[in-house]
Amino acid sequence: MTVSNQLTPEYVDAERGGSAPKVSLRGISKAFMVKRQVVNALAGIDVDIRPGEFFCVVGPSGCGKTTLLRILAGLEPQDGGSVRIARDRTDARNGASSGVASLDEQTKLILQGELLRIWEDDRKTVVYVTHSIDEAIVLADRIMIMTARPGRIKDIVDVAAVFGRPRELEAVRSSPSYGEMFGHIWSQLRTEVTESRDGDINANTAR
Ligand SMILES: Nc1ncnc2c1ncn2[C@@H]1O[C@H](COP(=O)(O)OP(=O)(O)O)[C@@H](O)[C@H]1O
Ligand SMILES: [Mg+2]
Repeated sequence: MTVSNQLTPEYVDAERGGSAPKVSLRGISKAFMVKRQVVNALAGIDVDIRPGEFFCVVGPSGCGKTTLLRILAGLEPQDGGSVRIARDRTDARNGASSGVASLDEQTKLILQGELLRIWEDDRKTVVYVTHSIDEAIVLADRIMIMTARPGRIKDIVDVAAVFGRPRELEAVRSSPSYGEMFGHIWSQLRTEVTESRDGDINANTAR
């Protein structure tokens, strides 16, 4: 099977009982032409998302988070790399095109606790974009921190290794590990946010 030049998600049957990833992203890149200028949105995104994982994505504005979700959902073709999504029998029965939900807008609508309970009940694989470090920590199994544009993976934080399931949100927030994790994520994100803001300011003054 060739996946190297695959520009739309490839749906494959999940290996039963195995630990095969639910979503495999390999070398995902994407650029847009904006006013005859190339804007590199994503560069070399390489990650495996596990079945039933709650996978959070954080990164500065314009780093390609929405673009990544659109590629995952098959709404936008990537320029390079491959997307492989394992489909199990439940996905087929539900007629779902993918087990990955893009809940970017729903963050405002669904309370965190409620979302967590729903997810703990049915354990669908979720890729969730948020601007809130707090939200990422309380919800995620892993948090992918992205760099400023072009979006690359800066770090992946293994939250599940520290906070198990089921989770009590207040217990997570009052734990000393929460503060440490928050500090770690913010220190990495801060440089990227600064960079992306500086880039925007330069772009504005150059006009
Ligand atoms: N359809 C599009 N046409 C042109 N540029 C786009 C388009 N979609 C996104 N971009 C650009 O790609 C970059 C990443 O955008 P996006 O994925 O929305 O970032 P984020 O969701 O992290 O804020 C931005 O510079 C944005 O302006
Ligand atoms: Mg966005």
